[in-house]
Amino acid sequence: MIPQKKLHDWYQIHKRDLPFRKKKQAYPIWISEVMLQQTRVNAMLPLYEAFIKRFPTPETLASATEEEVLAHWKGLGYYSRARNIRKAAIFLVQNYNGAFPKDLAKVLQLPGIGNYTARAILSIAYDLPLAVLDGNVKRVLSRYYGYTKNILGAKADSDLQNKADEFLNIDHPGDHNQAMMELGATLCLPESPKCLLCPLTDSCFARIHQKTSEIPIREKDKKQIQLSAEIWVLFHKESILLVREPKMRFLKGMFHLPYGFTGEIPAEAYEPSPFFLSLRKTLSDPNPKPIGQFKHTITHHKMVFSVLSAPLDEKVGVEGLTKKFGIESKWVTLSTLDTEFPSSLASKVKKILLYLEL
Ligand code: ADE
Repeated sequence: MIPQKKLHDWYQIHKRDLPFRKKKQAYPIWISEVMLQQTRVNAMLPLYEAFIKRFPTPETLASATEEEVLAHWKGLGYYSRARNIRKAAIFLVQNYNGAFPKDLAKVLQLPGIGNYTARAILSIAYDLPLAVLDGNVKRVLSRYYGYTKNILGAKADSDLQNKADEFLNIDHPGDHNQAMMELGATLCLPESPKCLLCPLTDSCFARIHQKTSEIPIREKDKKQIQLSAEIWVLFHKESILLVREPKMRFLKGMFHLPYGFTGEIPAEAYEPSPFFLSLRKTLSDPNPKPIGQFKHTITHHKMVFSVLSAPLDEKVGVEGLTKKFGIESKWVTLSTLDTEFPSSLASKVKKILLYLEL
């Protein structure tokens, strides 16, 4: 029997009886998956039940006030997740009649929904052939395939996503994904995995080579660098300013939104550019408030970006500044922001701007 079939058979017998598994409906699956990112199944169940009782549909959630949604998120923490869920529900109701589009790229555009959540919803609710990768699945796959590179390393996620795609059971993507997570949560444990009970034991590299205590390899990067940054969205009517600065530590040669590191700077290479400092000085009166924040990782740099926005009465002021510092600039629109500035940084800023009014 092929391993995917063994896993599927095992899951049919051993799967936990959970309320969000009763029906293949995107909305309750979405809510449960977001809650499960913060807490274990047993702890989230009472909160999940109360949340779904009060907000049984995207429409009920979309028409609730933010305060009420936050009150039903009490005990889960990370309140930005609850805010994003409400904003996404409003967007779904306004644009898709309250249903999730059956399209990965479209679902990824929703606030608070990243790769894991989008793939989980679309595979579990609609059986789209999309494999999920969470911490448990990474452990299962690295043992199964004998992945001996560092799973915390820069390439691990894309390597393991490829393995997850390869291993996906395309006849039952939703059950397969849940079975992989369930296996990681119940048998393929970090310490003392229960290989005797595992449906994949016959073909698992780590079990066969007695390497379950060595794989996965988790080497914390010795020198993770934490950075805080500001990224600016300067509007003149519908246009947004991009600049291309020489000698940048990141995003070399690319037009980008003006950004710079703030707070504690660990080394000279991360100093904000004189252009950025000057721009910030010009704009910080009165001091604008960030319109959002997001995390961003580039290799061993862990960054937190605050997004700031300012309307400009005219272009000439900042253009004078770019000229003074010998920096190229151009004006783009919100719809072309992520193609003109082709970095996931642009997509993260765009997501914040798109949902600002909600
Ligand atoms: N962990 C997060 N979501 C899960 C799911 N749907 N099934 C099993 N484990 C999970």
